[in-house]
Amino acid sequence: MTATIIDGKTIAAELRKRVAADVARVKRDHDLVPGLAVVLVGHDPASEVYVRSKHTQTQAAGMASFEHRLPDDVAQGELLALIATLNADPAVHGILVQLPLPKSLDTETIINAIDPMKDVDGLHPHNAGRLAGGLPALSPCTPLGCIILTKTVRPSLDGLNAIVIGRSNLVGRPLVQLLLNENATVTIAHSRSRDLARLCAQADLVYAAVGRPEMVRGDWIKPGAVVIDVGINRMPGDDGRTRLVGDVAFAEAREVAGAITPVPGGVGQMTVACLLVNTLRAACAIAGLPKPAV
Ligand code: GUN
Repeated sequence: MTATIIDGKTIAAELRKRVAADVARVKRDHDLVPGLAVVLVGHDPASEVYVRSKHTQTQAAGMASFEHRLPDDVAQGELLALIATLNADPAVHGILVQLPLPKSLDTETIINAIDPMKDVDGLHPHNAGRLAGGLPALSPCTPLGCIILTKTVRPSLDGLNAIVIGRSNLVGRPLVQLLLNENATVTIAHSRSRDLARLCAQADLVYAAVGRPEMVRGDWIKPGAVVIDVGINRMPGDDGRTRLVGDVAFAEAREVAGAITPVPGGVGQMTVACLLVNTLRAACAIAGLPKPAV
């Protein structure tokens, strides 16, 4: 039997609909319009695509979208001044600085300058530390999306064995913390881990976030496991066009897994939807309103 395909596109669309309904509610009842500011430095083509999609989807959810584009040779002081302005702007409830930044800028300094209440990426040490401490926090969007996708096929993760392959601040590390909060037993693997295939074979839940095309093979997967593929690797296709492939060898894994996310159409769709959730949550927290239902 082949795996259930976890349809990220549909699940993300449903989540965006729920966010839009709640945005309409806070607008109507509290005169509050959640606002998201996205800062893009330079012209990285992948980042351009993400930023455009964030802008469109933020507006479609009924929120205010503020886009700030800076040249790739911008002085660090100028970017820090923009962040200070956004921190102080009452119409802005979420601030996202698109990564990666040009090498001339110090990413850590930039992220540390964002007001933690507006840190919808969940990357500020305040939020990362709270998440690691099991406290309520704004959490990174892609890991949140991974958990939501998993729960569509496994509503309870209690006691399940999970493996997270990859330890980035944006995905792997926060995902580990979210899985712990769900009472999963978590193995953290990475590029230096030995015998990944054996580690993987014990997992009921596999999260591949290493950025290596099709590294996770079908014969690594425990039959019936849930496989969440965070990888987005751009490969030259046979027809000369760019093809997106994940970190999992999809055609092999789908023959063994119980459920699997495709690339594209899996996790990627969820990241922006979860960014909208975080922006709504941040707006409610800043306004002193109860945590929204979504
Ligand atoms: N670049 C790729 N994904 C992300 C993300 O989730 N947040 C930010 N800030 N930059 C990214």
